[in-house]
Amino acid sequence: MTCVSLKPSLSNKNKMTKLHLQALSVAALAFAITGCSSIRHDVAPIHSAYTVQTEGGGAIARVITAAADCPLIEIDGRAQTMTQRAAPATIAARDPGKKDSKPANFPLRSCEAPLPRGTHSAQIGSFAFPLAPAEPKRIIILGDTGCRMKQAENEFQPCNDTKAWPFAEVIKSAAAFKPELVIHVGDFHYRESPCPAGNAGCAGSPWGFGMDVWDADFFTPAAPLLKSAPWVFMRGNHESCARAGQGWFRFLDNTPWSAARSCDDPANDGEADFSAPYSVPLNATTQLIVFDSSRAGLKAYKPTDAAYGKYLTQLQEVDRLASQRQHNFFLAHHPVLAFAPNPTGGPTYPGNGGLQSVMAQLHGQRLFPRNVELALHGHVHLFEAVSFASDHPASIVLGNSASGADVDLPAQLPPGLMPAPGAIVDDFVSRSGFGFASLELIAQAWQLTEYDVQGRAIFKCALKDGKSRCARVGQDK
Ligand SMILES: [Fe+2]
Repeated sequence: MTCVSLKPSLSNKNKMTKLHLQALSVAALAFAITGCSSIRHDVAPIHSAYTVQTEGGGAIARVITAAADCPLIEIDGRAQTMTQRAAPATIAARDPGKKDSKPANFPLRSCEAPLPRGTHSAQIGSFAFPLAPAEPKRIIILGDTGCRMKQAENEFQPCNDTKAWPFAEVIKSAAAFKPELVIHVGDFHYRESPCPAGNAGCAGSPWGFGMDVWDADFFTPAAPLLKSAPWVFMRGNHESCARAGQGWFRFLDNTPWSAARSCDDPANDGEADFSAPYSVPLNATTQLIVFDSSRAGLKAYKPTDAAYGKYLTQLQEVDRLASQRQHNFFLAHHPVLAFAPNPTGGPTYPGNGGLQSVMAQLHGQRLFPRNVELALHGHVHLFEAVSFASDHPASIVLGNSASGADVDLPAQLPPGLMPAPGAIVDDFVSRSGFGFASLELIAQAWQLTEYDVQGRAIFKCALKDGKSRCARVGQDK
Protein backbone atom coordinates (compact mmCIF):
# COMPACT_ATOMS: atom_id res chain seq x y z
CA MET A 1 0.00 0.00 0.00
CA THR A 2 1.32 3.42 -0.87
CA CYS A 3 2.17 5.52 2.16
CA VAL A 4 1.23 9.19 2.19
CA SER A 5 1.35 11.35 5.29
CA LEU A 6 -1.77 13.46 5.32
CA LYS A 7 -1.62 15.51 8.47
CA PRO A 8 -2.71 19.00 7.38
CA SER A 9 -0.15 21.77 7.70
CA LEU A 10 -1.26 24.92 9.50
CA SER A 11 -1.28 27.00 6.34
CA ASN A 12 -3.40 24.41 4.56
CA LYS A 13 -5.69 23.91 7.49
CA ASN A 14 -7.02 27.43 7.20
CA LYS A 15 -7.84 27.01 3.54
CA MET A 16 -9.26 23.51 3.42
CA THR A 17 -12.93 22.77 3.31
CA LYS A 18 -14.63 21.01 6.17
CA LEU A 19 -15.07 17.96 3.94
CA HIS A 20 -11.37 17.72 3.23
CA LEU A 21 -10.40 18.17 6.84
CA GLN A 22 -12.81 15.42 7.81
CA ALA A 23 -11.27 13.16 5.19
CA LEU A 24 -7.78 14.00 6.34
CA SER A 25 -8.57 13.34 9.97
CA VAL A 26 -9.95 9.92 9.02
CA ALA A 27 -6.65 9.26 7.25
CA ALA A 28 -4.66 10.47 10.24
CA LEU A 29 -6.74 8.14 12.40
CA ALA A 30 -5.88 5.26 10.08
CA PHE A 31 -2.28 6.26 10.55
CA ALA A 32 -2.61 6.01 14.30
CA ILE A 33 -4.47 2.71 14.10
CA THR A 34 -2.01 0.99 11.80
CA GLY A 35 1.02 2.42 13.60
CA CYS A 36 2.85 3.03 10.32
CA SER A 37 2.50 5.14 7.26
CA SER A 38 0.32 2.55 5.54
CA ILE A 39 -3.23 3.71 4.88
CA ARG A 40 -6.08 1.35 4.08
CA HIS A 41 -8.24 1.97 1.01
CA ASP A 42 -11.47 1.74 2.89
CA VAL A 43 -10.71 4.52 5.33
CA ALA A 44 -8.13 6.71 3.68
CA PRO A 45 -9.06 9.01 0.81
CA ILE A 46 -5.61 9.26 -0.76
CA HIS A 47 -4.14 6.03 -1.98
CA SER A 48 -1.12 7.33 -3.87
CA ALA A 49 0.50 10.70 -4.62
CA TYR A 50 3.32 11.25 -7.10
CA THR A 51 4.83 13.63 -9.64
CA VAL A 52 4.73 13.00 -13.40
CA GLN A 53 7.58 14.82 -15.16
CA THR A 54 6.41 16.18 -18.48
CA GLU A 55 7.40 18.31 -21.43
CA GLY A 56 9.60 21.34 -21.15
CA GLY A 57 10.61 20.72 -17.54
CA GLY A 58 7.07 21.05 -16.20
CA ALA A 59 5.42 18.42 -14.06
CA ILE A 60 2.01 17.19 -12.93
CA ALA A 61 1.04 16.47 -9.33
CA ARG A 62 -1.22 13.47 -9.36
CA VAL A 63 -3.19 11.59 -6.69
CA ILE A 64 -5.32 8.47 -6.68
CA THR A 65 -8.04 8.90 -4.13
CA ALA A 66 -11.05 7.16 -2.65
CA ALA A 67 -12.65 10.51 -1.81
CA ALA A 68 -15.79 11.73 -3.55
CA ASP A 69 -13.96 14.70 -4.98
CA CYS A 70 -10.43 15.86 -5.66
CA PRO A 71 -8.36 17.30 -2.81
CA LEU A 72 -6.90 20.73 -2.31
CA ILE A 73 -3.26 21.16 -3.18
CA GLU A 74 -1.08 24.08 -2.11
CA ILE A 75 1.26 25.16 -4.91
CA ASP A 76 3.84 27.79 -3.96
CA GLY A 77 1.62 28.76 -1.04
CA ARG A 78 -1.61 29.04 -3.01
CA ALA A 79 -4.39 26.51 -2.43
CA GLN A 80 -6.36 25.16 -5.35
CA THR A 81 -8.57 22.15 -5.97
CA MET A 82 -7.01 19.43 -8.07
CA THR A 83 -8.82 18.60 -11.29
CA GLN A 84 -10.40 15.22 -11.79
CA ARG A 85 -8.51 13.19 -14.37
CA ALA A 86 -10.58 10.00 -14.40
CA ALA A 87 -13.60 9.04 -12.32
CA PRO A 88 -14.02 5.63 -10.71
CA ALA A 89 -15.39 3.13 -13.22
CA THR A 90 -15.81 -0.52 -13.99
CA ILE A 91 -15.04 -0.97 -17.68
CA ALA A 92 -16.50 -3.90 -19.58
CA ALA A 93 -13.97 -6.41 -20.87
CA ARG A 94 -12.57 -5.17 -24.16
CA ASP A 95 -12.57 -8.67 -25.62
CA PRO A 96 -15.14 -10.69 -23.65
CA GLY A 97 -14.64 -13.78 -25.83
CA LYS A 98 -10.98 -14.05 -24.94
CA LYS A 99 -9.80 -16.47 -22.25
CA ASP A 100 -8.93 -14.80 -18.94
CA SER A 101 -10.98 -11.75 -19.80
CA LYS A 102 -12.97 -9.78 -17.22
CA PRO A 103 -14.07 -6.19 -16.60
CA ALA A 104 -11.42 -3.76 -15.37
CA ASN A 105 -12.41 -2.26 -12.04
CA PHE A 106 -11.00 1.13 -11.12
CA PRO A 107 -12.71 2.04 -7.84
CA LEU A 108 -10.54 5.10 -7.20
CA ARG A 109 -10.48 8.57 -8.70
CA SER A 110 -7.37 10.10 -10.23
CA CYS A 111 -6.82 13.83 -9.82
CA GLU A 112 -4.12 16.19 -10.96
CA ALA A 113 -2.72 19.69 -10.96
CA PRO A 114 -0.10 21.17 -13.30
CA LEU A 115 3.21 22.21 -11.76
CA PRO A 116 4.78 24.65 -14.20
CA ARG A 117 8.57 24.73 -14.59
CA GLY A 118 9.94 26.79 -11.70
CA THR A 119 7.39 25.61 -9.13
CA HIS A 120 9.03 25.63 -5.69
CA SER A 121 6.59 23.61 -3.62
CA ALA A 122 3.47 21.50 -3.99
CA GLN A 123 1.83 20.00 -0.94
CA ILE A 124 -1.23 18.21 0.28
CA GLY A 125 -1.15 18.56 4.03
CA SER A 126 2.35 17.63 5.10
CA PHE A 127 2.99 15.54 1.99
CA ALA A 128 5.34 17.37 -0.38
CA PHE A 129 5.29 16.30 -4.02
CA PRO A 130 8.88 15.74 -5.18
CA LEU A 131 10.11 18.33 -7.68
CA ALA A 132 13.09 18.08 -10.01
CA PRO A 133 15.78 20.75 -9.94
CA ALA A 134 16.14 22.87 -13.08
CA GLU A 135 19.18 20.80 -14.04
CA PRO A 136 18.84 17.22 -12.77
CA LYS A 137 22.21 15.50 -12.53
CA ARG A 138 21.36 12.32 -10.64
CA ILE A 139 18.84 10.10 -12.43
CA ILE A 140 17.70 6.56 -11.71
CA ILE A 141 16.59 4.36 -14.62
CA LEU A 142 14.63 1.13 -14.27
CA GLY A 143 12.24 -0.84 -16.42
CA ASP A 144 10.12 -3.94 -17.02
CA THR A 145 9.13 -4.25 -13.42
CA GLY A 146 5.81 -6.12 -12.96
CA CYS A 147 5.38 -9.75 -11.93
CA ARG A 148 4.72 -11.85 -15.01
CA MET A 149 1.58 -14.01 -14.87
CA LYS A 150 0.66 -15.06 -18.38
CA GLN A 151 -1.15 -18.27 -19.28
CA ALA A 152 -0.43 -17.95 -23.01
CA GLU A 153 3.29 -18.31 -22.26
CA ASN A 154 2.69 -20.63 -19.28
CA GLU A 155 4.82 -18.28 -17.22
CA PHE A 156 3.99 -17.51 -13.61
CA GLN A 157 6.67 -15.60 -11.75
CA PRO A 158 6.56 -16.21 -7.98
CA CYS A 159 5.16 -12.79 -7.12
CA ASN A 160 5.11 -13.64 -3.41
CA ASP A 161 8.87 -14.29 -3.35
CA THR A 162 10.87 -11.08 -3.05
CA LYS A 163 13.97 -12.80 -4.45
CA ALA A 164 12.18 -14.10 -7.55
CA TRP A 165 10.31 -10.81 -8.07
CA PRO A 166 12.57 -8.24 -6.39
CA PHE A 167 10.87 -5.00 -7.47
CA ALA A 168 10.39 -3.73 -3.90
CA GLU A 169 14.07 -4.36 -3.17
CA VAL A 170 15.14 -2.60 -6.38
CA ILE A 171 13.00 0.37 -5.37
CA LYS A 172 14.52 0.47 -1.90
CA SER A 173 18.07 0.38 -3.29
CA ALA A 174 17.28 3.00 -5.95
CA ALA A 175 15.64 5.34 -3.42
CA ALA A 176 18.82 5.22 -1.30
CA PHE A 177 20.56 7.12 -4.12
CA LYS A 178 18.24 10.08 -3.49
CA PRO A 179 17.68 10.66 -7.21
CA GLU A 180 16.50 13.97 -8.63
CA LEU A 181 14.59 12.24 -11.43
CA VAL A 182 13.48 8.67 -12.18
CA ILE A 183 12.97 7.19 -15.65
CA HIS A 184 10.91 4.03 -16.06
CA VAL A 185 11.47 2.64 -19.55
CA GLY A 186 8.08 0.92 -19.70
CA ASP A 187 6.19 -2.32 -18.96
CA PHE A 188 4.74 -1.76 -15.51
CA HIS A 189 1.84 -4.22 -15.60
CA TYR A 190 2.31 -7.97 -16.00
CA ARG A 191 -0.40 -9.94 -14.16
CA GLU A 192 -2.72 -10.79 -17.03
CA SER A 193 -3.84 -14.33 -16.10
CA PRO A 194 -5.04 -15.90 -12.85
CA CYS A 195 -2.48 -17.77 -10.78
CA PRO A 196 -3.05 -21.51 -11.36
CA ALA A 197 -4.55 -23.46 -8.48
CA GLY A 198 -1.86 -24.95 -6.28
CA ASN A 199 0.87 -22.51 -7.35
CA ALA A 200 2.11 -21.13 -4.03
CA GLY A 201 4.49 -18.70 -5.75
CA CYS A 202 1.70 -16.47 -6.99
CA ALA A 203 -1.24 -17.68 -4.87
CA GLY A 204 -3.60 -14.90 -3.91
CA SER A 205 -2.34 -12.47 -6.54
CA PRO A 206 -4.86 -10.22 -8.31
CA TRP A 207 -4.97 -10.45 -12.11
CA GLY A 208 -6.55 -8.58 -15.01
CA PHE A 209 -6.26 -4.93 -15.97
CA GLY A 210 -7.89 -3.18 -13.00
CA MET A 211 -6.60 -1.12 -10.10
CA ASP A 212 -5.77 -4.11 -7.91
CA VAL A 213 -3.07 -5.26 -10.31
CA TRP A 214 -1.72 -1.74 -10.80
CA ASP A 215 -1.48 -1.55 -7.05
CA ALA A 216 0.31 -4.90 -6.65
CA ASP A 217 2.58 -4.57 -9.69
CA PHE A 218 3.44 -0.91 -9.30
CA PHE A 219 1.99 1.54 -6.78
CA THR A 220 2.62 -0.43 -3.60
CA PRO A 221 6.19 -1.58 -4.30
CA ALA A 222 7.18 1.69 -6.04
CA ALA A 223 5.91 3.96 -3.24
CA PRO A 224 9.30 4.85 -1.67
CA LEU A 225 10.72 5.96 -5.02
CA LEU A 226 7.52 7.75 -6.07
CA LYS A 227 7.97 9.81 -2.92
CA SER A 228 11.63 10.55 -3.69
CA ALA A 229 11.58 12.13 -7.14
CA PRO A 230 9.42 12.96 -10.16
CA TRP A 231 9.15 10.16 -12.71
CA VAL A 232 9.38 10.15 -16.48
CA PHE A 233 6.94 7.39 -17.41
CA MET A 234 7.56 5.60 -20.71
CA ARG A 235 4.88 3.45 -22.24
CA GLY A 236 5.70 -0.19 -22.94
CA ASN A 237 3.87 -2.74 -25.04
CA HIS A 238 2.22 -3.97 -21.83
CA GLU A 239 0.52 -0.56 -21.65
CA SER A 240 -0.87 -0.70 -25.19
CA CYS A 241 -4.65 -0.42 -25.43
CA ALA A 242 -5.28 -4.14 -25.80
CA ARG A 243 -3.42 -4.77 -22.54
CA ALA A 244 -3.04 -2.35 -19.59
CA GLY A 245 -3.64 0.85 -21.55
CA GLN A 246 -6.61 1.85 -19.40
CA GLY A 247 -4.46 2.11 -16.28
CA TRP A 248 -1.70 3.80 -18.28
CA PHE A 249 -4.01 6.64 -19.22
CA ARG A 250 -5.65 6.92 -15.80
CA PHE A 251 -2.42 7.04 -13.86
CA LEU A 252 0.79 7.59 -15.83
CA ASP A 253 0.28 9.30 -19.21
CA ASN A 254 1.35 12.94 -19.25
CA THR A 255 -1.41 14.31 -21.50
CA PRO A 256 -5.04 15.04 -20.55
CA TRP A 257 -7.28 11.99 -20.09
CA SER A 258 -10.25 11.76 -22.45
CA ALA A 259 -12.65 9.02 -23.44
CA ALA A 260 -10.97 8.90 -26.86
CA ARG A 261 -7.56 8.43 -25.22
CA SER A 262 -8.53 6.01 -22.47
CA CYS A 263 -8.27 2.63 -24.23
CA ASP A 264 -11.79 1.90 -22.94
CA ASP A 265 -13.24 1.53 -26.46
CA PRO A 266 -11.21 -0.52 -28.97
CA ALA A 267 -12.67 1.66 -31.75
CA ASN A 268 -10.27 4.42 -30.59
CA ASP A 269 -7.12 2.30 -30.45
CA GLY A 270 -5.89 3.72 -33.76
CA GLU A 271 -5.33 7.00 -31.94
CA ALA A 272 -4.84 5.94 -28.34
CA ASP A 273 -2.05 3.48 -29.14
CA PHE A 274 0.16 6.35 -30.28
CA SER A 275 1.31 9.48 -28.43
CA ALA A 276 3.17 12.60 -29.47
CA PRO A 277 6.82 12.58 -28.36
CA TYR A 278 7.97 15.23 -25.88
CA SER A 279 11.21 16.56 -24.48
CA VAL A 280 12.41 16.86 -20.89
CA PRO A 281 15.36 19.26 -20.54
CA LEU A 282 18.29 18.19 -18.35
CA ASN A 283 20.19 21.45 -18.87
CA ALA A 284 20.83 24.09 -21.53
CA THR A 285 22.57 21.64 -23.85
CA THR A 286 21.00 18.23 -23.17
CA GLN A 287 17.48 16.85 -23.10
CA LEU A 288 15.53 13.60 -23.07
CA ILE A 289 13.11 12.87 -25.92
CA VAL A 290 10.37 10.47 -24.85
CA PHE A 291 8.79 8.33 -27.58
CA ASP A 292 5.76 6.02 -27.32
CA SER A 293 6.73 2.77 -29.08
CA SER A 294 4.10 0.64 -27.35
CA ARG A 295 2.70 -0.79 -30.60
CA ALA A 296 5.96 -1.15 -32.51
CA GLY A 297 6.11 -4.50 -34.29
CA LEU A 298 9.20 -6.56 -34.98
CA LYS A 299 8.68 -6.63 -38.75
CA ALA A 300 9.40 -3.72 -41.09
CA TYR A 301 6.31 -1.68 -41.89
CA LYS A 302 5.07 -1.04 -45.40
CA PRO A 303 4.50 2.63 -46.21
CA THR A 304 0.82 1.76 -46.63
CA ASP A 305 0.53 0.49 -43.03
CA ALA A 306 -1.38 2.79 -40.67
CA ALA A 307 1.35 2.43 -38.03
CA TYR A 308 3.97 3.55 -40.57
CA GLY A 309 2.17 6.86 -41.04
CA LYS A 310 1.72 7.36 -37.28
CA TYR A 311 5.34 6.65 -36.47
CA LEU A 312 6.58 8.75 -39.38
CA THR A 313 4.68 11.79 -38.06
CA GLN A 314 5.98 11.19 -34.56
CA LEU A 315 9.56 10.69 -35.67
CA GLN A 316 9.36 13.93 -37.62
CA GLU A 317 8.36 15.55 -34.33
CA VAL A 318 11.39 13.87 -32.70
CA ASP A 319 13.54 15.59 -35.34
CA ARG A 320 11.99 18.95 -34.49
CA LEU A 321 12.51 18.40 -30.76
CA ALA A 322 16.09 17.22 -31.28
CA SER A 323 16.91 20.49 -33.02
CA GLN A 324 16.29 22.29 -29.71
CA ARG A 325 19.38 20.92 -27.99
CA GLN A 326 22.96 20.07 -28.91
CA HIS A 327 22.73 16.71 -27.15
CA ASN A 328 19.69 14.43 -27.08
CA PHE A 329 18.94 11.14 -25.35
CA PHE A 330 16.18 9.21 -27.16
CA LEU A 331 13.91 7.14 -24.91
CA ALA A 332 11.68 4.41 -26.37
CA HIS A 333 10.62 1.13 -24.81
CA HIS A 334 11.64 -1.02 -27.79
CA PRO A 335 15.39 -1.22 -28.53
CA VAL A 336 16.21 0.10 -31.99
CA LEU A 337 19.94 -0.69 -32.07
CA ALA A 338 20.42 -3.46 -29.53
CA PHE A 339 19.99 -7.21 -29.35
CA ALA A 340 17.57 -9.68 -27.82
CA PRO A 341 18.54 -13.26 -26.94
CA ASN A 342 16.76 -16.14 -28.57
CA PRO A 343 15.67 -18.36 -25.67
CA THR A 344 15.73 -21.45 -27.90
CA GLY A 345 19.42 -20.89 -28.57
CA GLY A 346 18.91 -19.70 -32.14
CA PRO A 347 20.45 -16.56 -33.62
CA THR A 348 20.35 -13.43 -31.49
CA TYR A 349 17.58 -11.05 -32.56
CA PRO A 350 18.51 -7.63 -33.95
CA GLY A 351 16.82 -4.32 -33.08
CA ASN A 352 13.16 -3.48 -33.64
CA GLY A 353 12.39 -3.89 -37.36
CA GLY A 354 9.21 -1.83 -37.27
CA LEU A 355 10.84 1.31 -35.89
CA GLN A 356 13.96 0.82 -38.00
CA SER A 357 11.88 0.76 -41.20
CA VAL A 358 10.36 4.19 -40.48
CA MET A 359 13.50 5.74 -39.03
CA ALA A 360 15.48 4.73 -42.11
CA GLN A 361 13.04 6.70 -44.22
CA LEU A 362 14.07 9.87 -42.37
CA HIS A 363 17.75 9.27 -41.63
CA GLY A 364 19.02 6.43 -43.80
CA GLN A 365 21.35 3.94 -42.13
CA ARG A 366 21.96 6.19 -39.11
CA LEU A 367 18.26 5.94 -38.27
CA PHE A 368 18.51 8.81 -35.75
CA PRO A 369 18.88 12.58 -36.12
CA ARG A 370 22.52 13.69 -36.00
CA ASN A 371 22.35 15.12 -32.46
CA VAL A 372 20.79 12.06 -30.81
CA GLU A 373 23.81 10.63 -28.99
CA LEU A 374 22.29 8.02 -26.74
CA ALA A 375 19.25 5.76 -26.86
CA LEU A 376 17.71 4.24 -23.73
CA HIS A 377 15.30 1.32 -23.87
CA GLY A 378 13.66 -1.56 -22.03
CA HIS A 379 11.58 -4.49 -23.31
CA VAL A 380 14.41 -7.02 -23.33
CA HIS A 381 14.77 -8.22 -19.76
CA LEU A 382 18.45 -7.65 -19.26
CA PHE A 383 21.06 -4.91 -19.13
CA GLU A 384 22.90 -4.26 -22.36
CA ALA A 385 25.17 -1.43 -23.52
CA VAL A 386 26.10 -1.30 -27.20
CA SER A 387 28.47 1.26 -28.75
CA PHE A 388 29.27 1.56 -32.42
CA ALA A 389 32.31 2.15 -34.61
CA SER A 390 29.83 3.39 -37.21
CA ASP A 391 27.84 6.61 -36.96
CA HIS A 392 25.11 5.34 -34.62
CA PRO A 393 24.17 6.44 -31.10
CA ALA A 394 25.20 4.27 -28.17
CA SER A 395 22.20 2.21 -27.11
CA ILE A 396 21.49 0.94 -23.62
CA VAL A 397 18.78 -1.52 -22.58
CA LEU A 398 17.58 -1.39 -18.98
CA GLY A 399 14.75 -3.91 -18.88
CA ASN A 400 16.09 -6.00 -15.97
CA SER A 401 14.42 -4.43 -12.96
CA ALA A 402 12.24 -7.33 -11.73
CA SER A 403 10.08 -8.98 -14.38
CA GLY A 404 11.17 -12.53 -15.31
CA ALA A 405 14.78 -12.29 -16.56
CA ASP A 406 15.71 -13.13 -20.13
CA VAL A 407 18.41 -15.67 -20.87
CA ASP A 408 21.90 -14.22 -21.27
CA LEU A 409 23.18 -12.75 -24.48
CA PRO A 410 26.51 -14.26 -25.61
CA ALA A 411 29.48 -12.68 -23.81
CA GLN A 412 31.02 -12.15 -27.24
CA LEU A 413 28.67 -11.30 -30.08
CA PRO A 414 29.14 -13.41 -33.22
CA PRO A 415 31.52 -11.58 -35.60
CA GLY A 416 29.71 -9.21 -37.90
CA LEU A 417 26.42 -9.30 -35.99
CA MET A 418 24.67 -5.96 -36.43
CA PRO A 419 21.38 -4.77 -34.87
CA ALA A 420 20.64 -2.88 -38.11
CA PRO A 421 22.36 -2.63 -41.50
CA GLY A 422 25.66 -0.76 -41.20
CA ALA A 423 25.62 -0.57 -37.37
CA ILE A 424 29.11 -1.91 -36.51
CA VAL A 425 29.47 -2.80 -32.84
CA ASP A 426 32.71 -1.93 -31.10
CA ASP A 427 31.83 -2.05 -27.39
CA PHE A 428 29.31 -4.43 -25.88
CA VAL A 429 28.48 -5.60 -22.37
CA SER A 430 25.39 -7.22 -20.90
CA ARG A 431 24.07 -9.01 -17.85
CA SER A 432 20.76 -10.75 -17.21
CA GLY A 433 20.70 -10.35 -13.42
CA PHE A 434 18.09 -8.05 -11.93
CA GLY A 435 19.04 -4.47 -11.18
CA PHE A 436 18.74 -0.82 -12.15
CA ALA A 437 20.98 2.01 -13.31
CA SER A 438 21.96 5.55 -12.52
CA LEU A 439 22.72 8.27 -15.06
CA GLU A 440 24.83 11.01 -13.51
CA LEU A 441 26.46 14.18 -14.72
CA ILE A 442 29.92 14.18 -13.12
CA ALA A 443 32.46 16.85 -14.06
CA GLN A 444 30.48 17.75 -17.19
CA ALA A 445 30.36 14.14 -18.42
CA TRP A 446 27.44 11.71 -18.26
CA GLN A 447 28.16 8.36 -16.67
CA LEU A 448 25.84 5.38 -16.47
CA THR A 449 26.26 2.83 -13.71
CA GLU A 450 24.51 -0.54 -13.71
CA TYR A 451 23.72 -1.96 -10.26
CA ASP A 452 22.46 -5.24 -8.91
CA VAL A 453 19.31 -5.42 -6.79
CA GLN A 454 21.18 -4.42 -3.64
CA GLY A 455 22.72 -1.37 -5.30
CA ARG A 456 26.22 -2.80 -5.85
CA ALA A 457 27.82 -1.38 -9.00
CA ILE A 458 28.45 -4.00 -11.72
CA PHE A 459 29.32 -1.87 -14.79
CA LYS A 460 30.35 1.74 -15.21
CA CYS A 461 29.86 3.27 -18.66
CA ALA A 462 31.35 6.60 -19.76
CA LEU A 463 29.10 8.30 -22.30
CA LYS A 464 30.80 10.71 -24.64
CA ASP A 465 30.38 11.86 -28.22
CA GLY A 466 27.72 9.29 -28.93
CA LYS A 467 29.81 6.35 -27.67
CA SER A 468 29.64 4.27 -24.51
CA ARG A 469 32.68 2.69 -22.93
CA CYS A 470 31.77 0.23 -20.21
CA ALA A 471 34.01 -1.40 -17.63
CA ARG A 472 33.06 -4.13 -15.21
CA VAL A 473 33.49 -2.92 -11.64
CA GLY A 474 31.71 -5.68 -9.71
CA GLN A 475 30.48 -9.24 -9.94
CA ASP A 476 26.98 -10.61 -9.65
CA LYS A 477 26.59 -12.63 -6.48
FE1 LIG B 1 8.08 -4.78 -23.41
